[in-house]
Amino acid sequence: MKNHLFSLLFILSFSTLTVFSHLFSPPDNYLINSGSTLPTTLHQNRPFTADSTSSHTLFINNQNPLPNLPSIYHTARVFTKPTKYSFPIKDKGTHFVRFHFHAFNSSNLDLGRAQFQILVDGYVVFSNFTRFLPDCQTNPRVVEYLIWVDSEKLSIVFVPNEDSKLAFVNAIEVISAPKDLVPETAQYLSSGNLKSFDGLNNQALEVVYRVTVGGPKVTPFNDSLWRTWVPDDQFLKSSVGSEKYYFGGRINYWVGGASREVGPDNVYNTARLIRSKNDSVPNVNMTWVFPIVGGYKYLVRLHFCDIASISMRLLYFNVYVNGQLAFEDLDLSLVTNSLAAPFYADFVVDGDVSIGALSVSIGPSKSSLPHVIDGMLNAVEVMKLNNTHKSLDGDVCADFVLKSRRSRGNTGIFLTLVAAVCIVLSLSIVIRRRIIESRESVSWSRLPVNLSENNVKG
Ligand SMILES: *[C@@H]1O[C@H](CO)[C@@H](O)[C@H](O)[C@H]1NC(C)=O
Ligand SMILES: *[C@@H]1O[C@H](CO)[C@@H](O)[C@H](O)[C@H]1NC(C)=O
Ligand SMILES: *[C@@H]1O[C@H](CO)[C@@H](O)[C@H](O)[C@H]1NC(C)=O
Ligand SMILES: *[C@@H]1O[C@H](CO)[C@@H](O)[C@H](O)[C@H]1NC(C)=O
Ligand SMILES: *[C@@H]1O[C@H](CO)[C@@H](O)[C@H](O)[C@H]1NC(C)=O
Ligand SMILES: *[C@@H]1O[C@H](CO)[C@@H](O)[C@H](O)[C@H]1NC(C)=O
Repeated sequence: MKNHLFSLLFILSFSTLTVFSHLFSPPDNYLINSGSTLPTTLHQNRPFTADSTSSHTLFINNQNPLPNLPSIYHTARVFTKPTKYSFPIKDKGTHFVRFHFHAFNSSNLDLGRAQFQILVDGYVVFSNFTRFLPDCQTNPRVVEYLIWVDSEKLSIVFVPNEDSKLAFVNAIEVISAPKDLVPETAQYLSSGNLKSFDGLNNQALEVVYRVTVGGPKVTPFNDSLWRTWVPDDQFLKSSVGSEKYYFGGRINYWVGGASREVGPDNVYNTARLIRSKNDSVPNVNMTWVFPIVGGYKYLVRLHFCDIASISMRLLYFNVYVNGQLAFEDLDLSLVTNSLAAPFYADFVVDGDVSIGALSVSIGPSKSSLPHVIDGMLNAVEVMKLNNTHKSLDGDVCADFVLKSRRSRGNTGIFLTLVAAVCIVLSLSIVIRRRIIESRESVSWSRLPVNLSENNVKG
């Protein structure tokens, strides 16, 4: 009888969790099955609507899709000229923008030849498709951005480059993010000092790594914001001195800590930890290394949830980001006031050009105790911040991308001047206005696609 009651309670609490994890309902929620006149669903529960048709762009089909490839990747929309999508926005603030890419061959068109840039709300978010090949030939590739939208429309412009005249996309998502996902401030960690970094939510962010530590991959099906969290093994420098840990109990979400939207149960119920098994505290670090492109700032979000200690006030550890002390003697129970309660911390760091990697280390501190857990990490996210040219991928600003499309002359010389032009553009409103005026008279095909809310839903 007791056993029955227990399993009933378990089922009840499990189904509550399942219901909860699907509660977030975004005011703006566009899922477009690009290049298709038919709607479809992804992961059984995400409806993607048909693309809007227009004579300017090409819809293509993959005649030989790989087995088990979701149907959103069976079609693609091809752009041969700069083309803009415009999404009406109901709810200003941070939005997820995701692009799905799967390069295939269709009717003598090799999508692997594509070269293009993508502009989102005046940011250059993407300018080198080559770096996704041949990866996205075998597996679909999703790139994700977090963009602050301050107006009634979000614009996405695909700009094929002059040589390839080819851009494509298999699916597009534009979704309101929960208000607490990107806060206004973070801590800037530079030369060993912590300073306040303000206006974080006004930066364009590219999600570079989203890693669940000590557990299996978490798929969009088990994440309320349809994110993917990959396992940490490939980033861990050495597993010597640490162990993976799984917790079967309930995660105690609390106001002031991480919400279920910040990190789902499946992310917080696994961790990697340092455990002291005898009278001495081990003198080790757990270190993860993330390859990055230097010359940008990065947001490193660390997720903690003490799922392994037997009681509060036993776990103390140090946290280092890029070898710099970010937390000394961190006592999670002091922050969360309970066990199994999630907490996250945001640090902005400079991505070093010569190292080309960021690191996160967790190790025992001077307060660490023997015979208990002496270090823990549950998840890490690494996000790239736009640079001063409002770009996430190169030193070319959006105005220049559009302007250079009409320069028939020596583009080589133009490109070397790009950085200077962008600086001038951002410094001088007068010049900026003139450039925009001249751009408006340019004959690149404007707005062939204008998605209104109705035809998107239809
Ligand atoms: C398309 O076919 C060509 C020739 O077989 C091949 O080289 C290329 O990699 C293919 N492209 C893609 C995206 O699979
Ligand atoms: C694009 O990415 C590829 C592969 O990572 C790299 O070899 C190439 O230099 C990059 N091109 C530009 C213009 O950055
Ligand atoms: C979702 O999470 C549950 C519980 O951890 C797991 O058993 C299941 O395989 C996951 N489903 C998918 C589609 O990832
Ligand atoms: C504790 O265990 C570690 C290995 O787990 C060993 O290296 C160390 O010498 C032990 N310390 C004591 C005091 O027994
Ligand atoms: C742990 O990493 C920090 C930062 O890189 C370093 O200062 C410290 O010496 C390391 N500790 C051990 C035991 O390797
Ligand atoms: C990102 O772009 C914004 C303009 O939208 C700018 O204010 C900010 O300084 C840029 N970020 C960085 C790190 O340069």
